[in-house]
Amino acid sequence: MARKIIIDTDPGRDDAVAILLALAAPQELDILALVAVAGNVPIARTESNARRLLELGGRPDIPVYAGCARPLVRPPITAEHVHGGTGLHGLDLPEPQVPLRPEHGVDALIAALRAAPPGEVTVCLLGPATNLAMALVKAPDIGPRIAEVVWMAGARSEGGNVTPAAEYNVHADPDAARVVLDSGVPLTLLPLDLTHQVRLTDARLGRLRQIDTAAARAVAALFSGADGAALQGGLGGPLHDPCVIAHLLRPGLFAGRAINVAVETAGSLTLGMTVADWFGVTGRPVNATWLNRADADGFFDLLFERLARLA
Ligand code: BDR
Ligand code: CA
Repeated sequence: MARKIIIDTDPGRDDAVAILLALAAPQELDILALVAVAGNVPIARTESNARRLLELGGRPDIPVYAGCARPLVRPPITAEHVHGGTGLHGLDLPEPQVPLRPEHGVDALIAALRAAPPGEVTVCLLGPATNLAMALVKAPDIGPRIAEVVWMAGARSEGGNVTPAAEYNVHADPDAARVVLDSGVPLTLLPLDLTHQVRLTDARLGRLRQIDTAAARAVAALFSGADGAALQGGLGGPLHDPCVIAHLLRPGLFAGRAINVAVETAGSLTLGMTVADWFGVTGRPVNATWLNRADADGFFDLLFERLARLA
């Protein structure tokens, strides 16, 4: 039976790849909804990008809801320098035809979790955790109903990508991150430690360009050009968010350790830093599985095989 998932997302170039990968796995994943959040670009664009991507992937029937328009406490921090003004730099998709659902994304998240039997719905977080934090505060009964939260978030070994200490999804809403980390929900984190191993190198981009589907062309367009493989010192752009979906499809591609993770919500230099207790020195209870190793070749084999299946 397909695993029921809700994708909470701020598309975002790598979010787009994650969504397409999920759409290419209909036998394994039953996508109940996409909930947009303000993040890489403002909410008006993340929600419309979510609809655009569902239409591209041939699944306009999946509902899209707009969630929170800003972080819980702090002003928004966007990432247009990475994702472009549209959020999908390099990919020009038409205005979506399917309307946004009228319910607020947080209410939709709560309703979907209450409608399913406990332990059946996995929440995939691809952006700041604002919507899930708000849902957990508004409706604490949903916590025990969540099968698992799988979140691209955090950084330990090399530090952050938005400040020296912090990864974007945590830094953009550290207060929401804290609510989720303290909530007791089963939580798997895919931090930069792992996603920086999963890079779309020139060689992999070459393989991708051989795949003759609209989805593969879209991914190539998103990661081509000056800010594609050339990004990050010629190593190729890291595909952060698709790792969340790949983890659901092939958990064996990733490895890590169950640890305690706390988040810095006060430091002036370290705001949004994930304090990952790798050696168990704090005595704090385990609250997350921190994945820090990836089989990158296996990831790209999976991604390319699936992109070849989508029209
Ligand atoms: C994360 O930040 C965003 O810009 C990406 O979409 C990804 O979710 C990586 O730090
Ligand atoms: Ca994202």
